[in-house]
Amino acid sequence: MSREMYNEIDLAKININVEPPTEEPGRQYYFMAKCCKWVKDFEQKNGRRPTACVTTFGCQMNARDSEKLAGILEKAGYQLIDNEKADFVIFNTCTVRDNANQRVYGRLGELGGHKRRNPGMKIALCGCMMQEPEVIEKLRKSYSFVDLVFGTHNIYKFAELLYASHEAEGMVVDIWKDTDKIVEDLPAERKYPFKSGINIMFGCNNFCSYCIVPYVRGRERSRKPEDILEEIRRLVADGVVEVMLLGQNVNSYGKNLDNPITFAQLLREVEKIDGLKRIRFMTSHPKDLSDELIEVMAQSEKICRHLHLPLQSGSTRILERMNRRYTKEQFLELAQRIRDRIPDIAITTDIIVGFPGETPEDLEETIDVVRRVKFDNAFTFIYSKRTGTPAAAMEDQVPKEQVKQGFDRLLKTVQDTARSQVAKYEGRVMEALIEEITEKGNSVEKSQPTENGEVMEKEHSGGESVSMVTGRLSNNTIVHVPGDASLIGKTVKVSLDECHGFYYIGHCV
Ligand code: SAH
Ligand code: SF4
Ligand code: F3S
Repeated sequence: MSREMYNEIDLAKININVEPPTEEPGRQYYFMAKCCKWVKDFEQKNGRRPTACVTTFGCQMNARDSEKLAGILEKAGYQLIDNEKADFVIFNTCTVRDNANQRVYGRLGELGGHKRRNPGMKIALCGCMMQEPEVIEKLRKSYSFVDLVFGTHNIYKFAELLYASHEAEGMVVDIWKDTDKIVEDLPAERKYPFKSGINIMFGCNNFCSYCIVPYVRGRERSRKPEDILEEIRRLVADGVVEVMLLGQNVNSYGKNLDNPITFAQLLREVEKIDGLKRIRFMTSHPKDLSDELIEVMAQSEKICRHLHLPLQSGSTRILERMNRRYTKEQFLELAQRIRDRIPDIAITTDIIVGFPGETPEDLEETIDVVRRVKFDNAFTFIYSKRTGTPAAAMEDQVPKEQVKQGFDRLLKTVQDTARSQVAKYEGRVMEALIEEITEKGNSVEKSQPTENGEVMEKEHSGGESVSMVTGRLSNNTIVHVPGDASLIGKTVKVSLDECHGFYYIGHCV
């Protein structure tokens, strides 16, 4: 793991015997210093540092938040481990679909077991699921062994809450309904030394009728461009070569700033940062994707040849009920415009099957769009009813059997187009950023994701005996090449020798 440079603040110089400061992030550094003292006392008593484990559910935004949680724990002196038998375990939760919640409850049950064996253990929960009042009620009733609960809006207060839970008996709960605050310059502990996510905005104003995100993440707020650029410069100075700019709808970035700026203008500024090699972003809402953005992408040396453009449905009637604010024809026309201007771009998407009122004819429209756009990959989801969203109140929920049949049919089409799109580059030489050692000589097949952006890597026995490394092309396709750990974080030219469905086996040239 690699450390970012906000960690330069010396906690030992903070006087913890006075009242805490009121301004941020100074207040949080004060509480980190308090936690540090607690950790030292623990170490004296037990002859070892306390261990901590951060587990992430959900999307890349949650993954980035988890890096901030880990940064604070690390700064306070905890030893970060990958094991839920740690002294402090925190789940950063997701609630976008019901199965995300069910996984959290399941894993929480297991944690309860660990805590019975290690009563000193502390369990914390945060993230999107905690913004739902029914969840908090259920935790109080059935999971009273949880020590600390907080939400998405006050995550920056983690150090203060961690300290409060050291002091308190019983469950500490702090949930805010909303916020307009953005706190900058807290520590973070990156998962990869060479790449990083960067939040450019928080929240969402779109209210797609099926989606809970606007309710649990609040209204859209953009960070100032200078703060974003400064964070990226620091990351680059710390070894980062690829950034992923994160927001629920990056195409509306900057509209509400005091000095408004477009997402395309922000990208132009990011491009100028020396030492940065690759720029990615997600997610793009089709209704807000501008010609200016297409032009900036086409001219850019650094922006990757990949656009994630969620379709959700190919039926104009369903799109309207979803409140997506584009039609089938508008989506097709947009995809064509992008492919015309940037011919080697990979377009990936998200699709929901079984939205209330969806008929087999509506699904045919979706399949038609998949065939015509030829998505390079698509994450397909079964509609999940989310309490409080407009779609949950729609009466014509689709029968399970119909949803399952439709889902299978769609998945097959998606896999066919994805395979032929990926295979287009066989024999070509392209640049790959090497990310990791390929697990035990096995190839890894990129398969369907469990949550948006969280791709489940399916093992596929390749039987190679040489050491292999896994790289990613600009268009997001995975390639495995012979090599060792010294290549990790480097960009190399690779020959794409054999296409294996969704990935390549190749060699460095
Ligand atoms: N802001 C992003 C998506 C965030 S949620 C966007 O607008 O594209 C990630 C994906 O989860 C969505 O694209 C959608 O396909 C899926 N999703 C969201 N709510 C869902 C629900 N209630 N049931 C099934 N899938 C859902
Ligand atoms: Fe949800 Fe729509 Fe916002 Fe995406 S744009 S987070 S799908 S409401
Ligand atoms: Fe899940 Fe929250 Fe992301 S609901 S998908 S973790 S914004």
